[in-house]
Amino acid sequence: VYIVRSWIELQTSPFEESDFVSLFTRLRSSVASSLGNKLVQLSEIKSRDTLLDLGCGPGLVARAILRRRELRCALLVDRSLPMVLAARANLKKIGNKCQIMRLDLERNQGRSQLVTEAPFDHIIAIDLWHLLEHRQIISKFIHDRLLSTNGNLTLALHRDISEKRMKNWHEIRSQVREEISLRMREINNKFEFGTRSRGAVVLHEEVGTYLRELRDSGFYLSRKAEDEDLADINQMVKHLPESFKMEVRRIDPNLPPSVIERIVNSSIRSVLQANKGFVNANIATEVFYVLKKT
Ligand SMILES: C[S@@+](CC[C@H](N)C(=O)[O-])C[C@H]1O[C@@H](n2cnc3c(N)ncnc32)[C@H](O)[C@@H]1O
Repeated sequence: VYIVRSWIELQTSPFEESDFVSLFTRLRSSVASSLGNKLVQLSEIKSRDTLLDLGCGPGLVARAILRRRELRCALLVDRSLPMVLAARANLKKIGNKCQIMRLDLERNQGRSQLVTEAPFDHIIAIDLWHLLEHRQIISKFIHDRLLSTNGNLTLALHRDISEKRMKNWHEIRSQVREEISLRMREINNKFEFGTRSRGAVVLHEEVGTYLRELRDSGFYLSRKAEDEDLADINQMVKHLPESFKMEVRRIDPNLPPSVIERIVNSSIRSVLQANKGFVNANIATEVFYVLKKT
């Protein structure tokens, strides 16, 4: 059952798709350097330290850290092949102190591959935690097997600014989906969007659950910070057309690109016009939690 479920999750995860990886990389590029800076300061990363980046994505955050600090070694891991390939390309110039591996943290076999390289002085998980199902097993594993005695684990998450704005954002996306579906069905009466993947933003109460679980695994919260400018999801409105074009193309790959372009653009335009006040409002802030062993 677990293998079948993992397979279905992988098939529906946007991170497995090259198009989405390009969009994600573009979004991330705008904040990666500042994110790296922030992590160097908050997690007190020094030259000669070792780093493990869990769910490294396209590797831009680790690259920013490696540009600031001469680390002894860095290991970057992700379960998505297109992400691992992007990370390898983005870190080509960094040299052989950096290793990039494809593995799934939800699986015993994936986690155990990390033990040979442990212990690490710093473990970072940037915008990853909300995507994990077996968080408690993973945090216990990090605590017991991967992190050095005085090391730290730093989580970063996009957290909602207000429930109202979050609802508003979801409503806008739903309205766009409805509008596109209506117009698409005039051409293809079977057109239907699939289930929506887990959004990038974490709610206040979810963060509370994560911190409790981490405490139960033997961590204490040593530092906390937040920075709204680092939440690149706030720029997502700008990228809505690209994101929806990608989704529509996936559902109906035979449609001419010009038709997709026209339908998506006009649907988004009409929904955004009806929600004018929303366009410039931030929906999330990036929160950082530095955890240490008790
Ligand atoms: C939102 S992206 C963040 C990427 C990167 N940390 C950054 O900040 O640019 C989340 C990443 O976690 C990866 N991921 C999700 N679940 C994972 C798992 N179980 N094991 C390894 N990687 C995972 C995804 O493939 C994706 O690349």
